[in-house]
Amino acid sequence: MKIKRFQGGYDKNFCYVVSCDETRMAAIIDPAVEINPVIEYIESEDLILDKILVTHTHHDHIYYLNDFIDLYPLAKVYASTNAAFKTNIEFKKVEHNDVIILGKLFILSLFTPGHYFDSMCFWIKSEKLVFTGDTMFVGRTGRTVGNGSNIKNLYQSIYKILLKLPTETIVYPGHHYGFRKEITIHENVKNSNFFQCKSFNEFELVMKNFEKSRNK
Ligand SMILES: [Fe+2]
Repeated sequence: MKIKRFQGGYDKNFCYVVSCDETRMAAIIDPAVEINPVIEYIESEDLILDKILVTHTHHDHIYYLNDFIDLYPLAKVYASTNAAFKTNIEFKKVEHNDVIILGKLFILSLFTPGHYFDSMCFWIKSEKLVFTGDTMFVGRTGRTVGNGSNIKNLYQSIYKILLKLPTETIVYPGHHYGFRKEITIHENVKNSNFFQCKSFNEFELVMKNFEKSRNK
């Protein structure tokens, strides 16, 4: 398996191309960056763009979706069952624990609402990595100040789902907001108080203090 990362878009967004070495089948995780470099990569590596996975429907994560669909009409879009696309996008609905097959790779979808109500993470267990969108970054979680976010749901998604994955799992987030571009779950827990809470109340306090520090 190969992962190619692209950075750009609205605010240090990451877009990833994941591919199966044996079959050349490829998937984009979040069409969040200008398409030309991504296309160049797909063509130069002789990949078949089979799928586009959407971590959530915030506009910065799907800004270039239509451009990719226009160029690759056979690629299927995958998003949460409750995904709230603002335009008429045809997509395959995925739920918690659905398996998405990419060549010889199995990608497990994890329903992780909180930052947004239609947030999904995509876990490739065999490769020990997870694409977390805006649910988990390097060093912190996504924010819960916008419409459609819910701090209790985020707590559940972080503590009952993501932090239960094997701790050596590498987190590939939706933005470059941390001191590195990727991190293991183990290191993220070690380095960040967002991931060390013993209760929901403690988590809520960490989130509130974070928002306060942003407003200074
Ligand atoms: Fe977001």
